[in-house]
Amino acid sequence: MILASGLRKSFGSFEAVRGIDVDVRRGESFGFLGPNGAGKSSTMRMVAAVSPVSGGTLRILGLDPATDGPEIRARIGVCPQEDTLDTELTVRDNLVVYGRYFGLPRAEVRERADELLEFVQLTDKAGAKVEDLSGGMKRRLTIARSLVNRPELLLLDEPTTGLDPQARHVVWDRLFRLKQQGVTLVLTTHYMDEAEQLTDRLVVMDKGLIVAEGSPLALIAEHSTREVAELRFGVAEEGESHEVLARKVEDLAERVEVLPDRLLLYTADGEETVAQVHERGLTPVATLVRRSTLEDVFLRLTGRTLVD
Ligand SMILES: Nc1ncnc2c1ncn2[C@@H]1O[C@H](COP(=O)(O)OP(=O)(O)O)[C@@H](O)[C@H]1O
Ligand SMILES: [Mg+2]
Repeated sequence: MILASGLRKSFGSFEAVRGIDVDVRRGESFGFLGPNGAGKSSTMRMVAAVSPVSGGTLRILGLDPATDGPEIRARIGVCPQEDTLDTELTVRDNLVVYGRYFGLPRAEVRERADELLEFVQLTDKAGAKVEDLSGGMKRRLTIARSLVNRPELLLLDEPTTGLDPQARHVVWDRLFRLKQQGVTLVLTTHYMDEAEQLTDRLVVMDKGLIVAEGSPLALIAEHSTREVAELRFGVAEEGESHEVLARKVEDLAERVEVLPDRLLLYTADGEETVAQVHERGLTPVATLVRRSTLEDVFLRLTGRTLVD
């Protein structure tokens, strides 16, 4: 569905995408995970055939965006990072007008619009103005709009950024359904839980480069331990810097990360590690044992957190 090799994007002398290789297959759900500025949107815009490639090769559905832009755009769906709905029109007319752009007959477009409103649970808002919708509803309408032409490939740039947790879950549920229907999904996100829930395979992007690739589980297995013990220390022990505290426990874990407010001990058995910390006479004011996530993978690979 997508084949990129040495793909680059420059803005003047600045390189936002610095040579990436990507191969997305039909029916898979593929993610680009990375912090702000990683180059995710720049990549998506090239894949959507709306931004010219600066270097390397790119094929979408086997087509070259430099020469086959219109055909590519007719066969894919795009949900951009910022909603670009027409606020002058009703919810339903946003879908109808968009469908007409694709040259679909009027009757067919109407039927499709109703079907899509049902799918994104906006049937009762069909006649409402876009500006009266909540952020989550606007996102769902944008997703519905991107599906008007029954795309083989759906691109979603940060589908839930800015939404509250409940609205996010509704969007995730709809995207999961599309995935089950066999639509190839390609999404970008800086939320590790979104990547874990929705993607079969992902690349971790940082500063215009791919730093790792694999399924969420494989990436975690390769770059982190099974569990993480998070330790927070109170004022009494703050006298000792986190670095000093880290050295006192470093032999208890495979790896220790020092964050501004806590220590992360990477270990196979977090409870056991916390017990050993206490045996050493150290008294963290709070402890949390959890499974490793893609956030830990990102921290391991870049030394930074995904969301700061
Ligand atoms: N049109 C543009 N002109 C100049 N710089 C840009 C432009 N678009 C993006 N950039 C820069 O490219 C880098 C990557 O941006 P972007 O692809 O939007 O990253 P992401 O979507 O991962 O946050 C950022 O440093 C951004 O400032
Ligand atoms: Mg972006």
